[in-house]
Amino acid sequence: MREKIIAGNWKMYMNHVEAVKFINDLQKELKRVETAYEIAVFPPFTSLFAVSQVLDKDLIKLGAQNTFYEKEGAYTGEVSVSMLKAIGCDYVIVGHSERRKYFYEDDAMIALKIKASLEGGITPILCVGETLEEREKGKAKEVVKQQMEEDLRYLSKEDIRRIVIAYEPVWAIGTGKNATPEEAQEMHEFVRETLNCQFGFSEITILYGGSVKPENIGELTRMKDVDGALVGGASIKLDSFLGIIKNVYQGGD
Ligand code: PGA
Repeated sequence: MREKIIAGNWKMYMNHVEAVKFINDLQKELKRVETAYEIAVFPPFTSLFAVSQVLDKDLIKLGAQNTFYEKEGAYTGEVSVSMLKAIGCDYVIVGHSERRKYFYEDDAMIALKIKASLEGGITPILCVGETLEEREKGKAKEVVKQQMEEDLRYLSKEDIRRIVIAYEPVWAIGTGKNATPEEAQEMHEFVRETLNCQFGFSEITILYGGSVKPENIGELTRMKDVDGALVGGASIKLDSFLGIIKNVYQGGD
């Protein structure tokens, strides 16, 4: 189903004390906001439990920024899907470009993580997207198609209904330079076409990510294949995250 979602990826920001304060402040404000969008936050691992203790699940859903694919074992430093589930996570981000770049996650590993998330009952948000160099060479679609084919390789037609995809052009992440609404729409439409070829089904949530701000969220979410946003930098300041939530396109005109 095409659920509308505004997701805040906090990256490596906010310890558990700061995170709890942020959530309490955000919830106070959200009680006054009417929106068709589900709001979700993705704190660092060390803040997840503290946030889960104060979270009002009717207002905000909880997600993690990463997971490992094994259920348990001697994997120093890793966290399993069932551990995230036990804390109350509904979502997990998989294959973010920062993990691909700095932690050398490849598509084989990402595919296993997607599969493990679904088996463990958590909705994976798969991030795909091209670098600037790839875009300039006219390879954006080719890259995204390949990522999708490899990362979703273990999924059945039923499984595909239970995932979310975030199209995040790498050149737009943390740079202040977002894709234009038309560029985003073109790629989202392409993601749906690719899903249709792979699975014969494409009515899933596709989020845009990359320098989303209160000023551009309206025009981006107005696009017919954009179901919401995965927000990084602007999700860790109360004013800008609220601004995004308030300015998102609600339909109707
Ligand atoms: P940004 O990050 O909004 O800071 O560009 C988006 C993301 O990495 O998900």
